[in-house]
Amino acid sequence: MNEKLYVFDTTLRDGEQVPGCQLNTIEKIELAKALELLKVDIIECGFPISSPGDFTSIVEISKVIKDSTICALTRAVEKDIEVAADALHFARRKRIHTGIGTSDPHIQYKFKSNREDIILRAISCVKYARKFVDDVEFYAEDAGRTENEYLARVVEAVIKAGATVVNIPDTTGYCTPEEYGAKIKYLVEHVPNIDKAIISTHCHNDLGMATANTLAGIMNGARQAEVTINGIGERAGNTALEEVVMAIKCRKDFPVYTEIDTPLIMKTSRLVSTLMRMPVQPNKAIVGRNAFAHSSGIHQDGVLKNRESYEIIDPSAVGVNESVIALTARSGRAALKHHFSRLNIELSNEELDVAYDKFLKLADVKKEIHDEDLLMISGVTKNIQTHRIKLKYLQVVCGKSAIPMATVKLLIDGEECVATSSGNGPIDASFSAVKSLIHRKINLEEFLVQAITKGTDDVGKVHIQVENKGNIYYGFSANTDIITASVEALIDAVSKII
Ligand code: KIV
Ligand code: ZN
Repeated sequence: MNEKLYVFDTTLRDGEQVPGCQLNTIEKIELAKALELLKVDIIECGFPISSPGDFTSIVEISKVIKDSTICALTRAVEKDIEVAADALHFARRKRIHTGIGTSDPHIQYKFKSNREDIILRAISCVKYARKFVDDVEFYAEDAGRTENEYLARVVEAVIKAGATVVNIPDTTGYCTPEEYGAKIKYLVEHVPNIDKAIISTHCHNDLGMATANTLAGIMNGARQAEVTINGIGERAGNTALEEVVMAIKCRKDFPVYTEIDTPLIMKTSRLVSTLMRMPVQPNKAIVGRNAFAHSSGIHQDGVLKNRESYEIIDPSAVGVNESVIALTARSGRAALKHHFSRLNIELSNEELDVAYDKFLKLADVKKEIHDEDLLMISGVTKNIQTHRIKLKYLQVVCGKSAIPMATVKLLIDGEECVATSSGNGPIDASFSAVKSLIHRKINLEEFLVQAITKGTDDVGKVHIQVENKGNIYYGFSANTDIITASVEALIDAVSKII
């Protein structure tokens, strides 16, 4: 009988540490609700002492989440633990995640301390956290580079002090699967009280081995995996939730099961990508746009004869519906609503109106509307609806030997304003016109254009980063007209400044 593997999602904490991925409280609540629907067991929501924003988000998420455990991160510092306990006040199920670095480089350079002192600090932070909550997870930061014998002493001591979960992070992503698996096995075999706690994996992807290391940990006794959606996280990221969950589901050799509602994986992945302005690479395992696309003739022929010749996962198991949706410019709101519900996307009447408008524009210029397009429409709709600045009109003149010119009409707080500018291309001209209307000094730091699907009639996505007074703002949009998408993305970013 397989044992349950607890899925601990840290998209809102380790994932959100990525520059450019910061979310506001409303966005964090939306994502936390999506993670709960996905049936994630534990949601790590932030590091409450680090900022008032993190603290407030944990308070608000705690009020709305019913089933998943809400977890807050701390250092081995009493004040951190007190603030975390406060932030978790409303949570129905709560966990404090506290810990300290245990590798020699951390002990010597970060703490200028010694191994015995670190054990004492580890014990006292766990004991202190247990005064506030029953569920305390201890992390041995940089456990990947910590000598096994010493790590086993730390783990035994913190379990004795009351830790319910012991997290063994490969913080720097240095381990190989053999090494990481052996580390977990060592703890199982050498820590006398290990049966009193759950062992957790927390692997970073610096050498591209995070998923392999996590699976090696599970094979050797870990029963909790710390993961993020799309594998986002510090540097090269964390272990991707979708990879671990689907590896366990589609292969029979892991002694565990998860309760993840896998058909919601794709939708959650797109939500994270849109909210965090972080494109998913097309060949990303499970959730990349090409993950279920067969392009070569030989593969297509094989799949047509039998899907299993080249597919190890049924796309519907992760919420991908490859069939073309019969949605045309003549379809009504009801049909659109039906297709959104099929994709588990619930829109308010107001949001549906905006989405319908976008759908009609798209259906006018595109032969087939795919699920991918609907996911984009719903993401962009939620993104732009609340903006104080709206693009009303855009006209560009460009071409060989023509001077690129753009006329832009914006609605700023309900007031119409128009500007015409030239530039070295249509996007440059449009951006100049927008800049002349918003009266803010902004510098474009990054401008990324990506095609969503295939042909020339398809939708392009634009991610933008602008700088204003030393702060960075992120913008996103998608449209079949790439110049309109660029201007909309600029407005999305600029709206956050004003
Ligand atoms: O990578 C790491 O070690 C962490 C800990 C804070 C859990 O994120
Ligand atoms: Zn981490």
